Amino acid sequence: MPIRPAGPLGTALTPVSDPGTLIHGGSVVTTRGVLRADVHMLGERIAAVGTDLSVPGAASVDATDLLILPGLIDVHVHVREPGASEKEDWQTATRAALAGGVTTILDMPNNDPPTVSAARVRQKLTLAAQGAACDYGVYLGATADNVGLAAELAGEIVGLKIYLGSTTGSLLTDDWSLLYRHLCATPASLPIAVHAEDEQCLRAFAGSSPVDHNRNRPPVCAELATAHVLAAARAAQRGVHIAHVSTPAEVMAIAAARRQVLGLTCEVCPHHLFLTAEDALRLGGWGKVNPPLRPGALVEGLWQALPLVDLVATDHAPHTSAQKHCGYAVAAAGFPGLESLLPLLLLAVRDGRLTLSRLVELTAAAPARLFHLAGKGSVAPGYDADIVLLDPTGESVVRPERWQTKARGSPFAGWSLPGRIVRLWRRGELCLDAGELQVTAGSGRPVRREGPLS
Ligand code: DOR
Ligand code: ZN
Repeated sequence: MPIRPAGPLGTALTPVSDPGTLIHGGSVVTTRGVLRADVHMLGERIAAVGTDLSVPGAASVDATDLLILPGLIDVHVHVREPGASEKEDWQTATRAALAGGVTTILDMPNNDPPTVSAARVRQKLTLAAQGAACDYGVYLGATADNVGLAAELAGEIVGLKIYLGSTTGSLLTDDWSLLYRHLCATPASLPIAVHAEDEQCLRAFAGSSPVDHNRNRPPVCAELATAHVLAAARAAQRGVHIAHVSTPAEVMAIAAARRQVLGLTCEVCPHHLFLTAEDALRLGGWGKVNPPLRPGALVEGLWQALPLVDLVATDHAPHTSAQKHCGYAVAAAGFPGLESLLPLLLLAVRDGRLTLSRLVELTAAAPARLFHLAGKGSVAPGYDADIVLLDPTGESVVRPERWQTKARGSPFAGWSLPGRIVRLWRRGELCLDAGELQVTAGSGRPVRREGPLS
């Protein structure tokens, strides 16, 4: 590193600031288009984006024929620590994230014990600070006893998660008045994400089929819960984010309700777009997820409704192989998603179902905007230097046994998918180079939420 000479008073030698890294010759993917531009990273930030940038002394990265994307942001991840580190922990989840091009994750609260108090939020943030290699935020889980707590913790959490139907863990708010009270007691600036499957409806269909999860948790359970949430949002006049919508009817209902309530948003998971209930029958335990994979006609409808969806999230939900192979009826629901997210969306781009700009909107710009994440979600001056350098050509076969996650399977195992991450920087630090992860546990940071915290 160059050294500045000692000052007139003989002060200690101070290092001249590092001139940073210049990525040149590549194409930057923005929400508005793909632009030929160079990117200058300085410290943890992007200093400049423009054509023919010249930065004397900067390290140079040749990005000819490569795409430059903002690091992906996954607002729906189950890290599992504390409580089930045998399934995943902060180190493995965040290494999986980085390996998949994801530089920020938001962690769900359905741990054992669940993240439902100030003490448990702080305990989780301590574990994350020790283990995380990518940036992160955590949700508070809603219970009957913690109405109003999200407001108190607004500076420490990224949002409140409400479970209207039973799934992994014990969190459940199957009472409309409690849902409504949580909506009223949580400041509009703090996102509320809802797992929308109606508990009474789930009970009505439970056990309908020994092999078909979609029959045990049919679309009507999701559609009914989404209708209840939208009614509560209208009554409370505040926005809500509906997690993992799995049917086109939910998307249409959310879109229609946007005329009456500001801030109604929804996410879709790759598995609900790329897999069907018919696939699930073939996949056994690895095809089991809540909400379930849906019949092909609904999946096609979900693709048609995609322009009305705000963002894509994985619902990365690792379990041990034993918990996936113990018989369909009792197998755990969910599977890892962080390391298949980007290749699946690149497949959609290749198939003409998505543009690169829309991919960046769905996986980076919209998550940052909707969750108020300061400095995230765009390759632009002043933003964090979270950058994926991507070779969109080539194919590779999905091999979960080589993934960073502790989960040892995926419904996408064996799929041949496009693209290769050449390099990845998280806040300016090179974390992935030629397929090799080089990160330290604890180098991730909590996200900063911008805007009013009340
Ligand atoms: O399939 C799922 N798995 N859906 C959920 O809602 C929770 C998740 C998990 O935590 O295992
Ligand atoms: Zn989930």
